[in-house]
Formats: sequence, structure tokens, C-alpha cells
Amino acid sequence: MNASDRPKICAPTEDAIAEAGRMIRSGGLVAFPTETVYGLGADALSPDAARKIYEAKGRPQDNPLIVHVASHSDVDICAEPNDIARTLIEKFWPGPLTVVMRARDAVPPQTRAGLSTVALRMPSRHEALAVIRAAGVPIAAPSANKSGRPSPTDAQTVARDLGNAVDMIIDGGSTDIGLESTVVDTTEDRAVILRSGAITREEIAKIVPVSSDDSDDVRRRSPGTRHRHYAPKVPVLLWSPDENDGDIARAASSVAWSYMGMREPFRASGTLRRKMIFADENEYARELFSSLRELEKDCDAIVAEMPGDAGISAAIRDRLIRAAGADR
Ligand code: TXA
Ligand code: MG
Repeated sequence: MNASDRPKICAPTEDAIAEAGRMIRSGGLVAFPTETVYGLGADALSPDAARKIYEAKGRPQDNPLIVHVASHSDVDICAEPNDIARTLIEKFWPGPLTVVMRARDAVPPQTRAGLSTVALRMPSRHEALAVIRAAGVPIAAPSANKSGRPSPTDAQTVARDLGNAVDMIIDGGSTDIGLESTVVDTTEDRAVILRSGAITREEIAKIVPVSSDDSDDVRRRSPGTRHRHYAPKVPVLLWSPDENDGDIARAASSVAWSYMGMREPFRASGTLRRKMIFADENEYARELFSSLRELEKDCDAIVAEMPGDAGISAAIRDRLIRAAGADR
């Protein structure tokens, strides 16, 4: 990257946040940290600003954006929440839960990819809330990566992925959770979980009725699930300890491979380049995307341990399956 390709990376000082707000109001693109991953933000109410996001990311036009709000009055500008939506918002906001609701006309079709619904989220990370307040408008923000790549969990990765397509990056260090928010559709009589995240199906099912089998619904309703995601530059092999030990060891035996997971890897006759061992599933979630980007640099394949499916592990499994391209 040469100097002119480098976006402006700023510490989250009061001045920088005020400038970020002005940039967004005047139609610019600002990346900022949330508790999940970094977002690429623009004025959600401006068709031109939304268009710029798609261009910068190389994002398919049919994949709608999440609108980030800092107050409940912003929700009423953008959407018509029903009882299910209100219950979820009351319990989980601010936090890593995105709620799909019926949209109001103030949100232009460009932001919601022509759908009659809009996805809203109130992040908990203070830099994100500060940027939204400074802008004075709801902010459309997908993850701040090139489309198809793992989501960025630090400012430097945003800069490398997007270069000067982004006007400014607020650098708040690493994100806390590391995986994107849980996305829930609330437009019918049962909530449908469209994307798993740190807020789990069990937590949601405790307070609202949840559709039990949403696999078809998910494909139909969540445009994002139709596209290739989280793809590193080398193949990802999924290792379920005790189940497919032999298969994976055979696959790894002829290549230079790297490993990530919570357990020690199996033995294989190929070269084990590097391994990343995580203390628990929270660390696995937090480090997953940056590890994919790190390990892809010097191996032929990445072997990743598939964790169980309780708590955040369900979201880790989901992202790994997509990274491996095993979901189609
Ligand atoms: O944690 C997050 O959600 C991060 C941070 C920046 O907030 N954002 C994020 O955005 O992950 P993105 O664009 O990478 O993922 C948005 C997901 C996509 O799968 C998209 O299809 C879905 O939300 N989505 C957005 N609007 C929708 C709608 N109206 N109906 C159904 N799905 C929607
Ligand atoms: Mg994304």
C-alpha cells in the first residue's frame, strides 16, 4: 500500500469523534469499532452514502445493511417495532443483537436492498455510540471488510482491506466479542434467528416465541446467507475431534498446514506450520477472524477445531462452516 492509499486512522478523541460525525453527515465513510467487529459507517438515510458502502466493500447489491442507532427515538424514525421486537430491544440493547422490523420510508431502499424490512442494532461499544450521536443520524454499517473476507476486529485490518475507499477509521483497539451480532427477524408471530452470535437462541427463546426450524426461513429471509463469507486465501478443513480424526489427518498429511482450536491438534505426517490454541470459546470467538487472516499467510490449509454448540460456540461453528465453504 503506498501513502496515498492509506486512510486516516485516528484515536477516539473528542475531536476525532466530532470529525467522524461531520464526515458521515456530509456523505463520507467512517469505520469504527463496535463490541462485535469493526463497522463501515455512512448516513443510513442517504441513498448516495449507502451506495458508497456497497462500492467500497464490493458488496452484492441484494445484501441489505444494518442500521445502527443510539436512541429509541431513532428506532421510531426507521422502523415499526411490534411486541416481539420491543421485548428483545428492551432486554438486549445496547448489545450484539440486530432486530429485523418493518421499515419506514425514511430508510431509503438503497440501505435495505429494496426490502420492506430494515435491520436495526444499538451497539454497546462507547466509540460506536459516540460516532452515531456525533453524526446525528442513524448509521448504516456492515462489517468493514472487503465482501467475502473475514470481518475485521482491529483498525489496521480495516485499513489493509479497504485502503482509501474509507475516509477515516476510528481506532479503538481490538473488538470484544469478535463475531458479528445475532440477527433476528421479528416481522412474524415467531422470531426467526437469521444469524447466530453472542446472544444465543436459548437466551432469546426465554423471552419471545422462536421458530424452531428456521433453516428454510433463513435462506429465504436473510440475503447475506446466500453469499460466500469469511473466506481465507487457503482452504479451511473442519476438525471434529473423535469424529473425523483420520480423514483430516490424511488431508493434512500432504501439505503444510496450520491449526487453530481449543485442543491440541492430532498428529499428521505433513508439516504443521503454526498452531493457535485458545483458552476457551470466548477467546476462540474473539481471535477467530484475525487468526484466519494471520494463518493464511504461510500455509496450504488451515485446520480448525469445531467446538460444541452451546453458547457462543454455535456462532463459531457457523462462521467456520462458511469459511470452509461447507454450507453449499
Ligand atoms: O455485529 C454486526 O452486526 C456488525 C457490526 C458492524 O454491527 N455488522 C455486520 O453487518 O455484521 P453485515 O452487513 O456484515 O451483516 C449484516 C447481516 C447480513 O447477513 C444481512 O443479510 C442481514 O444482516 N440483514 C440486514 N438487513 C436485513 C433485513 N432487512 N432482513 C434480513 N436480513 C438482513
Ligand atoms: Mg459482513
